[in-house]
Amino acid sequence: MNILSVTAEIFPLVKTGGLADVAGSLPKALKAHGIHTRSLVPGYPGVMQGLRDASPITEYDCLFGERAALLAGRADGLELFVLDAPAFFDRPGAPYTDKYGHEYADNWKRFAALSCVASQIARGLLPNWQPDVIHAHDWHSALSLVYLKYSGDNGVPRVLTVHNLAFQGQFPAHCFPELGLPNEAYSIDALEYYGDVGYLKGGLQAADAITVVSPTYAREIMSPAFGMGLEGVMNARHADVIGIVNGIDTEVWDPSSDCNIENHYSARTPLRRLPNRQALLNLFGLQNVCGPVFASVNRLTWQKGMDLLAEVADEIVKGGGALVVIGQGDPEIERAFLELSRRFPQRIGVKIGYDERLAHKIHAGADAMLVPSRFEPCGLTQLYALRYGCVPVVARTGGLSETIIDANDAALHAHVATGIQFSPIDAHELRHALRRTFKLYRRRREWEGLRRQGMKTDCSWHRSAARYAELYGELLSPDIRLAG
Ligand code: ADP
Ligand code: GLC
Repeated sequence: MNILSVTAEIFPLVKTGGLADVAGSLPKALKAHGIHTRSLVPGYPGVMQGLRDASPITEYDCLFGERAALLAGRADGLELFVLDAPAFFDRPGAPYTDKYGHEYADNWKRFAALSCVASQIARGLLPNWQPDVIHAHDWHSALSLVYLKYSGDNGVPRVLTVHNLAFQGQFPAHCFPELGLPNEAYSIDALEYYGDVGYLKGGLQAADAITVVSPTYAREIMSPAFGMGLEGVMNARHADVIGIVNGIDTEVWDPSSDCNIENHYSARTPLRRLPNRQALLNLFGLQNVCGPVFASVNRLTWQKGMDLLAEVADEIVKGGGALVVIGQGDPEIERAFLELSRRFPQRIGVKIGYDERLAHKIHAGADAMLVPSRFEPCGLTQLYALRYGCVPVVARTGGLSETIIDANDAALHAHVATGIQFSPIDAHELRHALRRTFKLYRRRREWEGLRRQGMKTDCSWHRSAARYAELYGELLSPDIRLAG
């Protein structure tokens, strides 16, 4: 079976968050199910540099006004199609924003171009490769399903994965005529969204199946509190929505062979983890730490609840612990953490920025990973933390609630607990969760049990890749196609 995956990010070539990790690791896991994935990605500088064996497939003199070429190639075990459109993608900033953090004004055009090319591949652009299913991720590629539906639907099933409903790709209505879609695509059942054009909304309407990155988030987004205005659409498509929790790449994230960390270890050799803790404290210049080392590897945003963490970080210092933070995002939250590191230089270390290697060192060295998200579709940092023996302390929401088992008395007694959950999600309860962590940390046997149980948890793609394989198979089975 051939799958065309369409994504704006893919690890290790271009990454701003978990979407890249999923888009980079799911194709590898699907191979075990006889599924061959090729991923279409924008030709950002990082992608062009990493691309190997590139060969041209087709050229465009005028793709949304710009010259472009479609290339095929490979990188790090991934098979890629790359839309090499320098006017759209060869820019020094981040994938969606310029160096000042402002969204590019032509994002609607950049991702329409990517989506338009995706739909052409699905309609048979290549003489020797035809996808059986097209699988788009988030708003950036959602429009490919709309193009496919409205510009000569050839029956290739359309799958959309929602990684985060907060990002919707909403643009002014005057963009619509330039998309080259028939007028019927600007209707309430398609792209029209409160008088604008909604890429994610259009994709949700055009998809044959919608996957959401955890079953809990799939339920949550049916309600106004989490639906971000799309709860009506989600409810209308309810029968076609399926929650599949993300897996992780257990080769990239493996404490027994990770080249980014000081000392290799496994669940059977916990003592070998200790030098990583000391190395982390040294790296951030932290001293006199007698309690747990807490950490956060996260976007510094409201979604991630990082303002709440800044508010209660003094609790960590008071208890004798330390805090290590790496992240970037909301300038006010960045400032709050920098201020904390100035106030408590020996106990709170902060790095504003994005650093993949440091993220690995932090997972290997910290005792507890804080993920106080207000909402979290799935979340990957808590999964990496489990694998690295860094006990997750998480808000009870979305994927966090179903990937971590809270250390309540019953779960501890049954030896199934893997972390600490708190709810409701506010500063008071986060503070309480920190106190619970301190208490558990002092009960060494229980703490080590918790850590060990986390490390034993299977966070791989094993089960979830099988769910995707099953879904693709169902969409291709003649009965279901007829019913649809
Ligand atoms: P989201 O995609 O919402 O940001 P996830 O938990 O799914 O959240 O994925 C975040 C990914 O980005 C993880 O791989 C995490 O390690 C990584 N990450 C986040 N912030 C940083 C950072 N400042 N430096 C390095 N890696 C980061
Ligand atoms: C989004 C979500 C995150 C999820 C990731 C990968 O960025 O915010 O929860 O883990 O996508 O699916």
